[in-house]
Amino acid sequence: MKKNIAVFASGNGTNLQAIIDNIAAGRLKARIALVVSDQKGAFALKRAESAGINTLYVDPKGFVTKQDHERFIIERLKREKVELIVLAGYMRILSPFFIKKYKNRILNIHPALLPAFKGAHAIRDAYNYGVKVTGVTVHFVDNKVDHGPIILQGTVVVSAIESITKLEKRIHKLEHKLYSQAIAKALLGRLSVRGRRIIPGLRAV
Ligand code: GRF
Repeated sequence: MKKNIAVFASGNGTNLQAIIDNIAAGRLKARIALVVSDQKGAFALKRAESAGINTLYVDPKGFVTKQDHERFIIERLKREKVELIVLAGYMRILSPFFIKKYKNRILNIHPALLPAFKGAHAIRDAYNYGVKVTGVTVHFVDNKVDHGPIILQGTVVVSAIESITKLEKRIHKLEHKLYSQAIAKALLGRLSVRGRRIIPGLRAV
């Protein structure tokens, strides 16, 4: 049976779209039970609606505390029987309270080879640094930003004459493939987290 996932997104949602497309093409065995956003106008919500996927827009300002906001989302995730949470450009930091409830069941994608170039401008930072190789990291989420155990990484060789726009396109193309592969791995439940290392063969989910 297909396992339920939730995708959290604040913006354009090209990663969400790639997951939708990969599921439709049979490349990823999963069901998106819910798309969650903190931005009312996020294009990701439109993509979800067009694909007939349930959406949940929650305005964080509507709650007294961060934990109240997160508890509201968790209630809905439970109702939808979500087994894995996929952060795809979700611009909020989840609290330790939330992360503990879904330990090793939250994935994030970062457009650089962690631990290099953490933060919101990773592609630009790596480009300006003059790296010859950069890439994409998919990792479990822990209590530090862009930090948890790494599930998959993919590399992109940067050409000396390449524009940043071209590099961005190539990184996003890799993201769209790699994220579904990492989700499949996590859903198969054959990942065991030992410290920072992920060892295949045992259960994570
Ligand atoms: C991606 O580059 C992802 O790595 C980062 O946020 C961006 C989201 O892009 N975490 P999109 O909304 O999926 O197009």
